[in-house]
Amino acid sequence: MTNNPDTPAIDGESPSGLANERFQFPRWANYLFPVLLLAAIGVLTYIPLLGTLALSPDTRAVGYQPEQPVPFSHALHAGKLKLDCRYCHSTVESAGFAAVPPTQTCLNCHAAIRSDSPKLAVVKESFETGNPIRWIKVHDVPDFVYFNHSAHINKGVACESCHGRIDQMEEVFQAKPLSMAWCLECHRAPEQHLRPRELVTAMGWDAQTATGKSQTQLGAELAQVYHVQPTHFMTSCSTCHR
Ligand code: HEC
Ligand code: HEC
Ligand code: HEC
Ligand code: HEC
Ligand code: HEC
Repeated sequence: MTNNPDTPAIDGESPSGLANERFQFPRWANYLFPVLLLAAIGVLTYIPLLGTLALSPDTRAVGYQPEQPVPFSHALHAGKLKLDCRYCHSTVESAGFAAVPPTQTCLNCHAAIRSDSPKLAVVKESFETGNPIRWIKVHDVPDFVYFNHSAHINKGVACESCHGRIDQMEEVFQAKPLSMAWCLECHRAPEQHLRPRELVTAMGWDAQTATGKSQTQLGAELAQVYHVQPTHFMTSCSTCHR
């Protein structure tokens, strides 16, 4: 499917130069009508269906904060201990998904630190049985939306632009709407959000304070250096629905 605005529209001119002759539908076109009608009904039901799926209430709201099987605190691990996000979410730069860390990552420290704490009982059990911890997904866009982490990270879009101040959260909650309007707001003006790539996991970063340049100026410069795609690509339906 292409919705590329650059695709030339088909104009009425026929290659054989018969454009002025009165056009007549061939006979087989009669059979085409029912097919078109079915397709139209299909489209009409598909769109509200998309709408219903997109609006299922419990998961997609700002503030959504499910209770996790282990009282893991980002405020402690990412905030106080200053662990880089990529220590645990190691795939964000290379893959579409961000991946929650395997139990082994926790054991790197907790084999020794607080190993007998009841708060770590589930972690220990997971390690001993080999069954992964059943973390509950917080952020979730519907399946008909294509999203890719590395595409954002590698162009200088920061974790905090989409997830908020994770380093201050005792328990992760959804800080942004993740709606289509929200995605598009940034896609129409990405320069308002770009920062140097190597700082995407920094929290509370501010262009003016850090570089003396306004966000708009720095962002526009980075958009050039990183070859950020032009608006027509960023807002084309097929970029996110493929
Ligand atoms: C010590 C490991 C560790 C570090 C460091 C860490 N995280 Fe996490 N992160 C986790 C675990 C475990 C979960 C799943 C449990 C939860 O949601 O709290 C998680 C969940 C998340 C989620 C929610 C995922 C979902 O289900 O939608 C986001 C967003 C996130 N982390 C972002 C970050 C960011 C941003 C940083 C850096 C500031 C960071 N994390 C640092 C271990 C870590
Ligand atoms: C780099 C080391 C490190 C890693 C990796 C790490 N932690 Fe921790 N964690 C700590 C430290 C340090 C504390 C604080 C211990 C204290 O308060 O004395 C802590 C505390 C905790 C506590 C609170 C324990 C209590 O009894 O209060 C939980 C729960 C916890 N971590 C879960 C996890 C989970 C789950 C993972 C893996 C996703 C993880 N940690 C990865 C270092 C780490
Ligand atoms: C442009 C917005 C954006 C940026 C930047 C971003 N995320 Fe996400 N993140 C999302 C969305 C949207 C989802 C839900 C994805 C889905 O449902 O497929 C998500 C999901 C996650 C998850 C859950 C696991 C997964 O892949 O579904 C984790 C963990 C996570 N993000 C961590 C991070 C970290 C760490 C960073 C920075 C290095 C980051 N994110 C940067 C938007 C973003
Ligand atoms: C804070 C800014 C920001 C937000 C929010 C944001 N994006 Fe993006 N997005 C970007 C930038 C910058 C690019 C990089 C364009 C490029 O490749 O040059 C991008 C690229 C993409 C691409 C193209 C990836 C590729 O590999 O071709 C997709 C798909 C995409 N975003 C989907 C989404 C979706 C879906 C959401 C909302 C859930 C979203 N984005 C939210 C800034 C953002
Ligand atoms: C930057 C990414 C992006 C682009 C570009 C985009 N969409 Fe979406 N779209 C989304 C996301 C994300 C959702 C899910 C919204 C939600 O869960 O609330 C969505 C949902 C939808 C839905 C379901 C109903 C709704 O509004 O929630 C329809 C229909 C839709 N998009 C059509 C389109 C059309 C037509 C275009 C082109 C004009 C387009 N989209 C361009 C990201 C995008």
